[in-house]
Amino acid sequence: MHRALYPGTFDPITLGHLNILEKAVRLFDEVILAGADYTGKNTSIQLEERLRLCVESTRHIPNLKVLSFSGLVVELAEKLECNTMLRGLRAVSDFEYELSLALTNKKIKPQIETVFLVPSLKYMYLSSSMVRQMADLGAHLEDFVPEPVLQYFHDTKRAR
Ligand code: COA
Repeated sequence: MHRALYPGTFDPITLGHLNILEKAVRLFDEVILAGADYTGKNTSIQLEERLRLCVESTRHIPNLKVLSFSGLVVELAEKLECNTMLRGLRAVSDFEYELSLALTNKKIKPQIETVFLVPSLKYMYLSSSMVRQMADLGAHLEDFVPEPVLQYFHDTKRAR
């Protein structure tokens, strides 16, 4: 079975991430979305909530599992018997960071290969931090995030 691991912060999940996942399930028997606890950056949304939004936003995608993890991503990959790590590659600016991540992971666990998928053009410049900024400033987010994330921002704004 060809199983791929798609790790990320998903702070929050966007239509760009979904675009990658929809492509990935056509290429692999099973895809596992793994929301990271530790990513080296400050997150805005609690892990449990990020996970819930991932689960609710991906119900329509077959052969996909969603889970969270702490610790090294390659150790999770090994535990889940995934030899493929999936990452989205958007603009050139992603390349250096993604290359260093892929090579470091390869150094730790040589059996794990990183495969890059390119999102559709309309999601090329989308990022979670841009979404958060737009949400803070009251922009319409329908073109950028799935319904559960829209609802999340709507509810958190009302609670403020
Ligand atoms: N559509 C929209 N946005 C996308 C995207 C897509 N297709 N692909 C990536 N992004 C964005 C994310 O929204 C995020 O944006 P932001 O920085 O503005 O919030 C950014 O690209 C990168 O985020 P993400 O893909 O979630 O990766 P990451 O760099 O935050 O996390 C991990 C990478 C989780 C894989 C890494 O931190 C990790 O493996 N952590 C566990 C510890 C470990 O093993 N570290 C590696 C040792 S070298």
